[in-house]
Amino acid sequence: MRIPIIAYALCFSAATIAQPALVPWPKSMEEHEGVFAIQLAGLLEGTGADGWGTMLRADLVAMGGLAHNQDEILRSIRFQRDDKLDKEAYVFTVEPDQVTIAASTREGALHATQTLRQLARKENTGTWAWPCIRVEDAPAYAWRGTMLDVSRHFYTVDFLKRYLDELARLKLNIFHWHLTDDQGWRVEVKKYPKLTEVGAWRTETDGTRYGGFYTQEQVKEVVAYAAARGITVVPEVEFPGHCSAALAAYPELGCRQDTLAVPTTWGVFHDVYCMGWDSTWTFFQDVLDELLPLFPAPWFHAGGDEVPKDRWERCNACQERMHKEGLDNEQELQAWAMKRLQNYLARKGKRMVGWDEILEGGLDKAAVVEVWRGDEQARKARANGNEMVRTIYFDASPANLTMDAVKAFDPRVDGAVNGILGAECPVWSERIDARSIGYYVFPRIQLFAERMWTGALNSGIDRRIAPQLTRLEGDGWITAQADKDLFLSKVRYQPATRSWQATTRCGRADMDVAWAMGRDSGTFNDTLVLHAPGTVALTPRWRGRPVEDATAITIVPNLALGAKQRVLPPADRRYGSDPLHGMTDGLLGTGSYGDDLWQGWWGMDPSITIDLDSVRTVSEISIRCLQQAGVWIVLPKSVSFETSRDGKQWTSISMDVHHVPVETPGPLVHAFAAQPATALQARYVRVQLRNSGKLPAWHMGAGADSWIFADEVVVR
Ligand code: ACM
Ligand code: ZN
Repeated sequence: MRIPIIAYALCFSAATIAQPALVPWPKSMEEHEGVFAIQLAGLLEGTGADGWGTMLRADLVAMGGLAHNQDEILRSIRFQRDDKLDKEAYVFTVEPDQVTIAASTREGALHATQTLRQLARKENTGTWAWPCIRVEDAPAYAWRGTMLDVSRHFYTVDFLKRYLDELARLKLNIFHWHLTDDQGWRVEVKKYPKLTEVGAWRTETDGTRYGGFYTQEQVKEVVAYAAARGITVVPEVEFPGHCSAALAAYPELGCRQDTLAVPTTWGVFHDVYCMGWDSTWTFFQDVLDELLPLFPAPWFHAGGDEVPKDRWERCNACQERMHKEGLDNEQELQAWAMKRLQNYLARKGKRMVGWDEILEGGLDKAAVVEVWRGDEQARKARANGNEMVRTIYFDASPANLTMDAVKAFDPRVDGAVNGILGAECPVWSERIDARSIGYYVFPRIQLFAERMWTGALNSGIDRRIAPQLTRLEGDGWITAQADKDLFLSKVRYQPATRSWQATTRCGRADMDVAWAMGRDSGTFNDTLVLHAPGTVALTPRWRGRPVEDATAITIVPNLALGAKQRVLPPADRRYGSDPLHGMTDGLLGTGSYGDDLWQGWWGMDPSITIDLDSVRTVSEISIRCLQQAGVWIVLPKSVSFETSRDGKQWTSISMDVHHVPVETPGPLVHAFAAQPATALQARYVRVQLRNSGKLPAWHMGAGADSWIFADEVVVR
């Protein structure tokens, strides 16, 4: 009989023997003396275990451990089927002369293989070995998933394969593929070619085309690749909202049937599928008829999140539908639509999954609810009798979602697991693409995988993750080192030297920043000083490769540069970092309202007075304002311009208004300007902005005050 020398479940600190760096930690493990030398091994698959050893065989070949022929075999590795084990469970025993691996399914055998991969050690002799060990293991949750949004940014098939390899190592078993959204339709549908001819491409604000899609052949390739690694692909096609790209391709599917462009900005869009036209249903069913056969998963994710109802309220066809179906309001119309879709899916043998909004207006118990809005929604799903998948969003910046917060994530609701299939760590791709995703995912996903496989975080987790990160970086994945954001940059005006100082902070010590301004360029690590106006592009890099698009900061010539400003009422302290010179620092805001260059006022009519220090010749005054209605930032109704020689007697020059509808979602920048017929002599300039008033009835924040955002008063 073998005496275990260490039983890890009881004892974690054996000073002389390194605890194996396994993630996730197995349910039970006993290490024994001795090793199995991975040399001249023969790999056998028992009855009913055909193909279970394929992945391990590839590893053995890579480690030079496989015997070339029968006669050479010194030791055996045997996969055998044991139907008494649970679906994903496995048991293996490594002894000096043989390894036996038992599971009841190929998935279980693949999980065993992943554990064996992590246990393999290179001996001093240069050959590979496994420690003698017995592992019994099984997952705590059935749904251990991640979601990838390939709409906002596109990821190639090669990328997806590398990503799936990493999910499989961690015994994650669901890849939720978010295939469509407003900014791109990413899957070929032969009956509706414009979905990808039109809907897969967008024209960015700089005029470049961005996009891509997967052919049905590529979809099959990804699904098969995942399946070979024990991962089920759950496709998501958004319905009935988040569909601007589809409406850009087929405008007749929307209530207003008007022409739309595939959007280049983020947020929630008002145009959704019309629930009145029968043709919308024909379309969606045709799409499902083509796509469902590509995915063997028993689930289909139909979206259902963030559906504004204002188009339906004003649409005759939708209102007629509500009347005919006896629906009292648009919320019931959505519930009716999801139910109709669920029935269609059920006829095709699929269970519908949807975001937690599908609970609103009544939900059939057979649907799976993906809870993204917290415990309250999870309780609702439980009370309604639905199974659920919980979430922790990994696109959150590391400063906002710290490692401690990830460690604290627990899919249970009020301490109980009933109704909880498991959880996902979705990656939304607005700010993320293939260059940076590793920074958001690693090492968070190691913590997530451990929680999902074992139900807890076990002792030594940080130490066990460390070698994984080294290996990931060796394979070209950027990983996060601490709770620092990938890249932060601030540019500040320095009045004393009339220069601008860019201060950056990269999330890793081995990153740098490439800068370019006109014909000049270079790299730096923390601080860059600029002496003249122009546009500087800052690109954060890891190992010399960009990990994000460049951040462009524009400095404009301004007669008022560094001039004293008096702002009444003062700007909100949460926005704009320079209260002394924010409106006269030469710095223009970027497309991001939170960039510290925009100043904000909520429900106010700000007045900005600039002192040019002496009487100057003024031929133009302008101020730039931002609109991003989704976050309540609206252009001012009007801007009036005045000048004064002494700060007491004021002369009105003009008032400027605009014709940009609040509906234009933005972010967009509009310059308000005054150009007197002849140049003026003035020491003081005053700009008064009139707030546009309450947010309109269709807006999510209807009736609330709107914000004014402005970045610079430019005097010429
Ligand atoms: C979601 O984040 N709209 C599901
Ligand atoms: Zn309609």
